[in-house]
Parts: sequence; structure tokens; C-alpha cells
Amino acid sequence: MAGNASLGCAKAAKNDEFYTQYSDVEAEMNAYVEFDPDVFRDKTVLLPCDDPEWSSFTRYFAANFARFGLRKLISTSYAKSKGRGTEASPELDSPLFDESLRESRGRLFTLERAADGTGDVGIGDIRFEGYLKGDGDFRSAEVRRLRDEADFVITNPPFSLVHDFVDWLCETDKRFIFIGNDNMVKYKEVFPLLKRNEAWLGWTRPKEFLVPDGAGARDNVTMREDGVRVASFGNNCWLTNVDHGGRHQPLLLDTREHNLRYNRKLRKRLKEKYNAQDYPSYSNFDALEVPYVECIPSDYDGVMGVPITFLDKHDPDQFELIGITGDLEWAQRECSFFRPPPKDIQQISRERNKTWRVQKAYVDDQDSLPLIPVYDRLFIRRRKGQR
Ligand SMILES: C[S@@+](CC[C@H](N)C(=O)[O-])C[C@H]1O[C@@H](n2cnc3c(N)ncnc32)[C@H](O)[C@@H]1O
Repeated sequence: MAGNASLGCAKAAKNDEFYTQYSDVEAEMNAYVEFDPDVFRDKTVLLPCDDPEWSSFTRYFAANFARFGLRKLISTSYAKSKGRGTEASPELDSPLFDESLRESRGRLFTLERAADGTGDVGIGDIRFEGYLKGDGDFRSAEVRRLRDEADFVITNPPFSLVHDFVDWLCETDKRFIFIGNDNMVKYKEVFPLLKRNEAWLGWTRPKEFLVPDGAGARDNVTMREDGVRVASFGNNCWLTNVDHGGRHQPLLLDTREHNLRYNRKLRKRLKEKYNAQDYPSYSNFDALEVPYVECIPSDYDGVMGVPITFLDKHDPDQFELIGITGDLEWAQRECSFFRPPPKDIQQISRERNKTWRVQKAYVDDQDSLPLIPVYDRLFIRRRKGQR
């Protein structure tokens, strides 16, 4: 089964037990630390939906606590999580340990600087602070209080609760770095953040997640050579509001004329899909259709529709993000270049194609009807003076 379909299954079945690999946490955090070596200095980091018994996030931040100059690490676990790991558990060794509470209560762990402020603390110094009053749901009042105490919230939240998780983050002005999937960028909670340049994609794309024993069998789960079960996904990304170098590298682009003359892939696509020799305009948006990110013309000043994968390469100083296809409210209320076809043409189009929607992008067919569907597009415009 393809990665995207598997993620859909995870969501439908509320199977949230996919654990991030240490190397994936490390690769992503490196991007922030390389950009700003003091990014975490004197900061408190909350790792919700986590557990030091098995979490790579907790182990990574504990291992790098002194190097980053962190002030405090807070890690909370969710009672219903299936992750019972092989790591040494500060809970089991603690006088606060209570077997009868393990299955129903979330747990709270912290790591702080040694009293003299200079101590080199690490994973072995993580303290079990006891059981939470509830199950550790990130939406609970007690985890919200921990969030409010933190400067950063960093995690891989349950896939099935991403909408809630973003709402929960947006209740505050915390800095965040979390794993989600590509569909998330279209969510009404997320796209406005991207557009306002208040969030962006991270630098890496985690592809495999660890699957604990006891999690149900799935088509996308395989046994690795080292005997570890992993689930593969093709559409995971990080969403963050923490700056990294990857978003300050302008795309190197060629002119419209050169793309059309030298890019065979582009020419083939335009010919086969639109029977065109130039970039077509949409029937219902006054914007240029650009089928591949690498073919964005460097010399076009108007609005362009580009594939969503553009976000991986988006440098906000080079292009302005204006909107996204599929959002009727935005198209009708805010989009100055929305050109809905006359009602009779809309009706004919819907009769010919049951999934036709005025807010999606179309290109005219040979009968001048808006019937050639275009996949999801972002609308962008080149910033003045940028090529
Ligand atoms: C995708 S897993 C990732 C776990 C860990 N953050 C990691 O990356 O390895 C999401 C975790 O969130 C837990 N979870 C599910 N619902 C939750 C909730 N409402 N509040 C907090 N955690 C939850 C799941 O049990 C699961 O262990």
C-alpha cells in the first residue's frame, strides 16, 4: 500500500502508535541549531505525547541538554500509549512508582540543570515527577499549564488529532516543531499560518517510524534487518515556526522562454495535458499554471499556481504565498483574481464531471469549457526585485 493510503488508515483507525527514530529527530534539530547555535539556550522544552522510556525526542534532548544550554526539559506521557520500552525507566526506580496508576494516568518527567547551573546533566538525570491527574491528554488543563510554562513544544503528535493539536498550539505564541503530513498544509488551521509566514515546513522528511509490539499489523509495516518493526510513510513533514537555513535559499530559476524552449518534461506535459505550447492560464483564476516547481518562470510578475511541493523549497524573501485552490471561502471573499465562470457554464461542468467545484483549478478544454482539472495548487507571486 502506498504511504499516503497507509496514513489515511492510521487516521481512520486512530492508530497513533508510530514512534520517531532518534536519527530523524537529530537530523531535523540540526537544521535549527546550525542556523542558530543558541536557539535552545536557556529555554524550556515541552515534549508532549512522549515518554522517556522510549521516546527519541526525550533521549535526544536529554543527551544534548548541556550542549544546547537548555534550562528545562518537560516530557509527558499518555496513559493509553503502547510504548513500553526497553530503556531504563526513571519511573520504576522512583518511590512515586505505583503499578495501579500506570494504565490510567499520564506521567510527568523533567530534566533540569544541576543546582550550580553548570552541571553536565543527561538522560540518567531525568526525574519522574509522578502521575498526572488525568491520562496525559495534551488538551487537558494540566498539560496546557506545562505548555504555558515552556518556550518550545516539540513532538510527533497523534496523527488522528492534528487539527486539535494545531488549535492547541495556536492558543499560545509558543515556538513549535512537530511532525505532521503533507495534507496538513491544506487545513484551515494551518494554511493561514503558512500564508502569514507564521509557520513553514521543516528541513527533513521522516520516512520510517518505529512500531511497538502489540500495535496492529498494517500493510505499511515491515521488519527491518535488525529485527525492528517499522512503518513507512511517504508524506510526512515537519511544521515549525523556528527558523532554519533551508528557507533562506532562493530557488534558481530560468526564464519563461528558456523553460519552454529547453525543458522537455515541461513541453511534454503542456502538450499532453493542455494541448498547449505555453504555460496556460486557469479558467477560473487569473493565474498562470506551472506544473513543476523547477519550471517556475523567473521573469513572470503575475500570480502563478504551483504544486504544493513548492513549500519544501519556499524562501519567503523570493515568493509571496497568496492562497490555495480548494478554499471556497477564501476564493469568494479574498481572492482578487478568482474568476468564477458564468452559472450556466458551472452547471454544464458539474454535469460533465461530478467532482467539479468552482474553487478548484481548471484549464479550458478544446471546447473552451473549464474541464481540464488541475491538482491542488498554491498561488504565489514573485517578490519585487527577486529573480
Ligand atoms: C505518533 S505517536 C508519537 C510518539 C512520540 N511523540 C514519538 O514521536 O515517538 C503519538 C503518541 O501520542 C499519543 N497520544 C494519543 N492521543 C493523545 C492525546 N490525546 N494526548 C497526548 N498523547 C496522545 C499516542 O498514544 C502516541 O504514543
